[in-house]
Amino acid sequence: MNFEGLKFISTKQLKSRKDIDIILDLAKRVEPYGKGLKYTDILKDKVMATLFYEPSTRTKFSFNSAAYRLGANIISEIEPKFSSMYKGETLQDTLRMVEQYSDIIVMRHPERGSAKLASNFLSKPFINAGDGAGEHPTQALLDVYTILKEREEIDGLNIMLCGDLMYGRTIHSLIELLKFYEIRLFLVSPNQLTIPKKIKNTLDEYKVNYEVSTKMEDFLPITDLLYMTRVQKERFVDIEEYEKLKNSYIVDLNVIKKAKKGLSILHPLPRVNEISTEVDNYSGAAYFRQAGNGVYIRMALILLLLDRQLNFK
Ligand code: NCD
Repeated sequence: MNFEGLKFISTKQLKSRKDIDIILDLAKRVEPYGKGLKYTDILKDKVMATLFYEPSTRTKFSFNSAAYRLGANIISEIEPKFSSMYKGETLQDTLRMVEQYSDIIVMRHPERGSAKLASNFLSKPFINAGDGAGEHPTQALLDVYTILKEREEIDGLNIMLCGDLMYGRTIHSLIELLKFYEIRLFLVSPNQLTIPKKIKNTLDEYKVNYEVSTKMEDFLPITDLLYMTRVQKERFVDIEEYEKLKNSYIVDLNVIKKAKKGLSILHPLPRVNEISTEVDNYSGAAYFRQAGNGVYIRMALILLLLDRQLNFK
């Protein structure tokens, strides 16, 4: 697939493992630059605009770090409340204007579908950094990258996705990548936060071996990799409902005792109570390493979308 100029809205745009591998392979090669062990300013003539209309620390910092490590310049909103959107400007107008000032645009927005909308009238490369409860494609790529780094192979793994499968956009994007691998999936959530029907249809279509449950214990002894998620408070209309569900699953050392030996634990972060801090020193706790991997994946994507090749030597 051709990445040049792409408006990257959804992991559904990646049509095969080959497409995924192009990004992962490049991420691997740029790692030394992302860690500051090697230097490049290959994008010194480029400007990246970041628009974050929803809270973000990891995603924003790792996009910024990725751009800086490639020598690009960044323009961004310091505080969304200073944005012209608050004067009543439409998203269309804001983006059309931002496009005049930059070469690539990264946006996070609270509404599902906003990234697709944006892509309809933009002509510059664009990256969806999360659209409401919709998708978060760069997170999914860094998740797959992390799984490979932690486990070497994805094929053959039993993977449990646990927590808020309804509103968790990282889950939605990740499943669209995992469908290409030979895995077994356990989808564990409270009934109220179960996986959307559309995503189940995708799993059926790709003949993924999956089971749905409300209980972690059912599959813990055979799970190789556990991907925990936060109950997405900001998507709830009824805050009492959130209060009831927020502590449905908590991973502590007791859970690890019951789990298969060598269990890997991922989480897109931020965590609230889903993983107790006593787990942080467990060798399979990969969530901080996972956050670090965001830089390399985003460097790779920026290079691909701007069609710049690093001269690796
Ligand atoms: C996730 C998100 O924003 O969707 N965080 C992130 O980007 N690392 C997950 C979350 O907020 O729960």
